[in-house]
Amino acid sequence: MSKAKKHTSKQKANQKLWGGRFKEELNTLAFDFSKSINLDKRLYHEDIAGSLAHVEMLAQQGIIAPSEANQIGRGLREIEKEIDEGIFNFENGQEDIHMAIEQRLHEKIGSVAGKLHTARSRNDQVATDERLWLRSAIQDLLEQLRQLQYSLLEQSQTHFGVVMPGYTHLQRAQPILLSHHLLAYIEMFERDKSRFQNALSRMNVSPLGAAALGGTPIPIDRRKTAKTLGFSDILANSIDAVSDRDYIIEFISACAITSMHLSRLAEEWVLWSSQEFSFITIGDAFTTGSSIMPQKKNPDMAELVRGKTGKVYGALMNILTTMKGLPLAYNRDMQEDKSPMFDAFDTTKQCLEIFASMIRATEFNTTQMRNAVFRDYSTATELADYLVRKGIAFREAHEIVGKIVAYCADNHLLLPDLHLKVLHNFSPVFDDDVFEFLNPEKSPARKKSAGSTSPKEVKKQLAKWQSLLRQNK
Ligand code: ARG
Repeated sequence: MSKAKKHTSKQKANQKLWGGRFKEELNTLAFDFSKSINLDKRLYHEDIAGSLAHVEMLAQQGIIAPSEANQIGRGLREIEKEIDEGIFNFENGQEDIHMAIEQRLHEKIGSVAGKLHTARSRNDQVATDERLWLRSAIQDLLEQLRQLQYSLLEQSQTHFGVVMPGYTHLQRAQPILLSHHLLAYIEMFERDKSRFQNALSRMNVSPLGAAALGGTPIPIDRRKTAKTLGFSDILANSIDAVSDRDYIIEFISACAITSMHLSRLAEEWVLWSSQEFSFITIGDAFTTGSSIMPQKKNPDMAELVRGKTGKVYGALMNILTTMKGLPLAYNRDMQEDKSPMFDAFDTTKQCLEIFASMIRATEFNTTQMRNAVFRDYSTATELADYLVRKGIAFREAHEIVGKIVAYCADNHLLLPDLHLKVLHNFSPVFDDDVFEFLNPEKSPARKKSAGSTSPKEVKKQLAKWQSLLRQNK
C-alpha cells in the first residue's frame, strides 16, 4: 500500500462542507498541510460577529425567514460561549475556523445551518474577520503605546532639570536635559500611534458581500452588514475586497516602525545600564544574572526587545513576499497571512508592555549624568556662540574653539580649567563673562529656539504631554 493511501483521511468527503464534487477523500497529509485552524481559531469572535450581522441582514432582506435567522443566531452565540469556555472541539475535522463553526452549527441546529453561508464566501469572511480583529488589535496597541509614553513622561517629570550629555556619533555633543531626551521618544511613539490610526481608517471598510470575487445575484444589502459591524463604508470593488491584504501590510509596517523605535530605546537602556555609562540602574525584577559570573546583572529584557525587532521585520517581509506575485483574486497562498499578522501583534504588544514596566522600575543616576557632562568638552559650541556674540564670524569662532579644545586635550584640561590669560592666546575678545558659558549646567537655559532643550521649552512640552496622555486614558 502506498504511503499516500495509508494516510487517507478517515474523514468522509461528504463531511467536508465543500465535499459534493469529490469522489476521493482528502489525503491526511494534504489535510494537515492545508489546515489553518490552529492559527485562525483566534478569529472566532470576529467570525461569529460577522456571521451574526450577515444572518440578520439575510432575514431583513427576506432572503431567509426570521425564525431561521433566530435559530442560526442562537446557535452561533452558543458556539461562541463554548469557545469562550474552552469546551469547543477544534479537532472536528474542519480545516479552518469558518468551517469548524459552521460544522458545529450543523450539529446543533441541523440543516437550517446550511442557510448561513447564503450569498457569502470564505474569501469575504476571512477578509472581514481580519479587518475586525485588527481593529481591536490596534486599539490594544494604541493603549500600550500610551502607557509606554506615560512611563517616559513620569520619568521626565521626576527628573526635570537634570543635565546629561547629548550625543551624536555616540560622542558627547552638547549638554541637554534628560527630560528632553526622554520626550524625544514620546514624540516618536506618538507618530507610531498616528500610523496605526491612519492604517485603521483605511482598514475599517467592509469586504463582506463581495462573496467569492464577483458579488452575488442574491439581493443582499452590504451597507447593512457594514453598519452593524461598525465599518465606515463598504469596499467598492468586490474583486479588490477579497484579494488584497494591504491592510495587514500596513498594520505590520506600523508594528515594524514601532519596533524600530523601541529597539533604539532598548539599545540606550543597554548602554546606559553598562558600567561604562552607569546612567541608569534597571530594577532587579527586570534584569537577570549569569549562571557563571556571580557579579553580573544583565539587561536581558532590553536586549530581547531589541532582538525581537527582527521578528517583526521578518513578518513584514513574509507578507510582502507572499503577496507580491499573486494574480487576482483569492489564492490559497493568502492563508499564510495569519502567522505574520498574529506574530507582529503579539511581539509588538509584549515589547511595549515590558518596556513600560521596565521604565517605571529604572533608577536614573543623575549624579553620574551630571559628572559626565562636567567631564567633557560639550560646551564647545557655547564657546563658539560666545565668540559670535562678540562679533566674530561663526566659521572663525569654530576654528578658534577647535584649537582651544586641542590645547585642553594635549594638556589634560577641561574648558572651565582655562584661565582668561590662556584664552587670550587664542582670541583677545574673551572676557570674564566667558566662564558662565563654560558651565554645562547653564547651557540648556541659553537655548532659545522652539523645541530646544531649554528648561522653558521642555516644561511646555511636559505640560502638553501631561494633558494629552491623561486625556486619552
Ligand atoms: N482558511 C482560508 C484562508 O484563511 C479560508 C479561505 C479559503 N477559501 C478558499 N477558496 N479555499 O485563506
